[in-house]
Amino acid sequence: MRHWSLADGRQSLILASDGARLPQIVYWGPQLPEGEDLAALTAAGALDVTGGMLDRTPDLSICPEATQSFPGQPGLMLRDAEGTSILPAFRFVEAEEEGDRLVLLYRDQRHGLTYRATFATCGDTHVIEARSTIESAAPVHLHWLAAPVFPGPQLSDEMHDFAGRWCGEFQMNATPWSPGIRCRDNRTGRTGHEHFPGLIVPCRGATNTQGQTFGFQYGWSGGHRMVAEELSDGRRQIQFGHAAGTETSPGMRFESATLYAVFSDEGINGCAVAFQRHLRDRILRFPRPDRPRPVHYNCWEAVYFDHNMPELKEIATRAAALGAERFVLDDGWFGNRDDDTRALSDWVVDARKYPDGLGPLIEHVHALGMTFGIWFEPEMINPDSEVHRRHPDWALGPDDQILGRNQKALDMARAEVRDFLFDRIGAILSAHPVDYVKWDHNRVLPMADAAQTRGTYALIDRLRHAFPQVEIESCASGGGRIDFGILGRTHRVWLSDSNDALERLKIQHNAAIFLPFVVTGSHVGPRECHTSGRVLDIRFRAWVAAQRHMGFEMDPRELDEEEARVLTEVTEWWKRNREWMGRADILRLDSADPAVIAEQQQAEDGGRFVVFAGKAATSTQTVPRPLRLTRLSPHARYRIELLNRGDASGLSRGEPVLKSQPVVLSGQYLMNHGLTLPWSFPERMWVVEGERV
Ligand code: DGJ
Repeated sequence: MRHWSLADGRQSLILASDGARLPQIVYWGPQLPEGEDLAALTAAGALDVTGGMLDRTPDLSICPEATQSFPGQPGLMLRDAEGTSILPAFRFVEAEEEGDRLVLLYRDQRHGLTYRATFATCGDTHVIEARSTIESAAPVHLHWLAAPVFPGPQLSDEMHDFAGRWCGEFQMNATPWSPGIRCRDNRTGRTGHEHFPGLIVPCRGATNTQGQTFGFQYGWSGGHRMVAEELSDGRRQIQFGHAAGTETSPGMRFESATLYAVFSDEGINGCAVAFQRHLRDRILRFPRPDRPRPVHYNCWEAVYFDHNMPELKEIATRAAALGAERFVLDDGWFGNRDDDTRALSDWVVDARKYPDGLGPLIEHVHALGMTFGIWFEPEMINPDSEVHRRHPDWALGPDDQILGRNQKALDMARAEVRDFLFDRIGAILSAHPVDYVKWDHNRVLPMADAAQTRGTYALIDRLRHAFPQVEIESCASGGGRIDFGILGRTHRVWLSDSNDALERLKIQHNAAIFLPFVVTGSHVGPRECHTSGRVLDIRFRAWVAAQRHMGFEMDPRELDEEEARVLTEVTEWWKRNREWMGRADILRLDSADPAVIAEQQQAEDGGRFVVFAGKAATSTQTVPRPLRLTRLSPHARYRIELLNRGDASGLSRGEPVLKSQPVVLSGQYLMNHGLTLPWSFPERMWVVEGERV
């Protein structure tokens, strides 16, 4: 037997193999005691055999093989150049263990194949990074390569994955485990609103705040495939990889993206905190990490394509007065882009709208103390554009394909396309002091192809190298491209095109299972929301945006005096708090009232927190149920203050103490009884500050 053990202070991952075969994960859970006998542990976990079974249970290895009689989905599907299926049987070559890293090398001599699995643990964040590589002596066609395969927990009744749509990202779906497969195979060619590549597997009884939970995120932007399979013997396997068949050309080397995996014994929040911290501290690369996140202004919902210099200047002036620190010029500044039917890829400033170029607007924005950002949608082309007329062959997919928002995708695998884009985008970034690019992607691909994603990554990497001071926002009709792969290259996500605070409250609450504060854009939208028609109070709109990286997107000229005052005050509060909130953990609370979506953002040292309790609907009961907090020290005492108690409506007639004054309470009480908040209308937010005394 061979054994390998990885531990990070919270969890242990034990791999074992019989002889030279591929290993399987024989234990994943709370860290095992020093000196645990791994041979005994492996032997103890061997399954019995009964009637109708093979004489030994085939391993659920890190790359399950059909040649081992594995009855479920294999971890690798390949064909040779002639199209004949290859069924590998890998044998051990070597293992390299170095600090937190384990690299395992296996070979199939007969087929000239080498399989490599890499695991890395992280003692700070408790996220395990796992990836796999396959090399072949001769060109092969890859249909499927799973990142190293993890076992699914047995004491789990269901799994939660994420679906969504435009303006409705991060919808959590619970699917009961049952024999067979839950498969997500994303054919859209991008991460997509529909298929966020994450999975949460709670063990029985786990909630946001307690219980054992396993979490996964696949860091790839070209569409993923997830297989969660229960075998007839009861074992469960979890596979993640690129969407099947998206390696469209034969090759001699293929690799999976990184699969991020985490075990938590503190409920979903244990996974959330691990992912939030890992993304923030290990994946994101801010040009100036110490710079606090600036308050954004984005002009899209104010002017759409109707760019007019005096108007934009006035909007910028008002946005700055409200507290904005960065002005982002959205779609409509280039070619003859008067609507969404034309000009994508003609990345030259529209002289009709900007006769003196972008300079005067940028100077105005700078004079107001804001920095300047600009929108591109690099991977796209309208048939009605100069570039398409010159290079129709640069478009991906057939001539008669169905357009998406009147556009086609460019073939990003072509070097000349990437060079062209680098030159055009580079020309704008060189000519102007731009510190931010909003990088959009507004249609699915005509067909999924991993080369497209690699091409996009290469272009972003090249631009980041040439313009290291420029931050990039990943946008795809809102949250259509959010994953840890793109976030290794970008710095913010446009979580949704919905600026409806009610929708946003829900979307950002679920997204927080993976995304920290610093990366999650959230804007105050127009009074009457453009995508839902809802009319929402400015207090609610402002506080929902203040939960994340705050910005504004309405036309500030629509704000009356009172609205402008509220927004300015909330923005000032946000600026006073953004530094510690930027490093805080976002903890989802177990709300006794399903109408209340609540979270606690807690400073790294636990010394302070803020609770946002958003009322998403009218409650069934008459008065608020107490809201339990989490992760406090039971014996510490906290000063609790309802920050916006002035927002209480006249219909709140009682005297919960928080309505009139702060109160000091123990962590024990707050975690086990909870906060008793005043009654409120739906579509309102209570904001409670807490400080350890
Ligand atoms: C879709 C984005 O999500 C919006 O924010 C905006 O940038 C438009 N595209 C512009 O076309």
